[in-house]
Amino acid sequence: MSTKPRILIARRIFPEVVQRLAQHFEVQANDEDIAWTPQELAAQLADKDGALTTGSQRIDAPLLALCPRLKIVANMAVGYNNFDVAAMRAAGVLGSNTPDVLTETTADFGFALLMATARRMAEAEHYLRAGLWQNWRYDMFAGAEVHGSTLAILGMGRIGQAIARRGAHGFGMRVLYHNRSRLAPELEAECRAEYVGKDELLARADHLMLVLPYTQQSHHAIGAAELARMKPTATLINIARGGIVDDAALAQALAERRIAAAGLDVFEGEPAVHPELLQVPNVVLTPHIASATVATRLAMANLAADNLIAFFRDGQALTPVEMT
Ligand code: DGY
Repeated sequence: MSTKPRILIARRIFPEVVQRLAQHFEVQANDEDIAWTPQELAAQLADKDGALTTGSQRIDAPLLALCPRLKIVANMAVGYNNFDVAAMRAAGVLGSNTPDVLTETTADFGFALLMATARRMAEAEHYLRAGLWQNWRYDMFAGAEVHGSTLAILGMGRIGQAIARRGAHGFGMRVLYHNRSRLAPELEAECRAEYVGKDELLARADHLMLVLPYTQQSHHAIGAAELARMKPTATLINIARGGIVDDAALAQALAERRIAAAGLDVFEGEPAVHPELLQVPNVVLTPHIASATVATRLAMANLAADNLIAFFRDGQALTPVEMT
């Protein structure tokens, strides 16, 4: 009988990473890529020592109660709001995530979504494909300026800082930010970012970029009241997590043109999307792909694998999450 630890890979990932893991572990891989229910996931994990998850599998007390051998869950994502950290700590299960390897790629996408939204690229493309383009008009899909405008960043971790650098140094934008804690002066200077209160951030934003983690405190951090503080010409970009924005309130604000436009990569209850967001033209919608380049997704999978390997070899993960 094999003495290797048993691990579950909860979704289909790169075959070369599965093969690498198979050198260290007895691997059960979800090659069919079935989106298991919580009960099915618990059944699959019941005899496993470790798991590689992708961020959409909830690890909570009811599941942990059914998985007595489990010692580590390695998320292939930087966000880990799928972990109930208190329940994992109580059960003695470590969590790890994949920071750093996706920072620049995710910041690139944030900027792509900002530009697509401000310059109305999705609306314009649909118009062209529908055969509606008959002639040139001076105001055809006239959008908002990006260069020289005010970029407001809510959440100033690694990805927020990478977006600030792009805005300040690449597009000559005035960068404002709000965060739980203020950056060190040298980092603020390097990002050319000014710290302001949340209300001021909302009021001054030409483009508001959300890059904060999803927690109980950040649930509906942008709702009707916050949207009402924004300029009617402003755009809102969410590459962070669904649930940070109240999608129903946003759909209404977009329909009533209380803000100009939104670019959304994440949604409350995704993959479901609020039906009214699908009706309004002034929103660019993408299916949670901010970190999706081949190289970055491979780096994320490899880092999740490295966390499992290091944990079972040395007793320590490379990038554990804060378990407090
Ligand atoms: C992350 O890494 O948190 C991305 O949102 C992918 O899930």
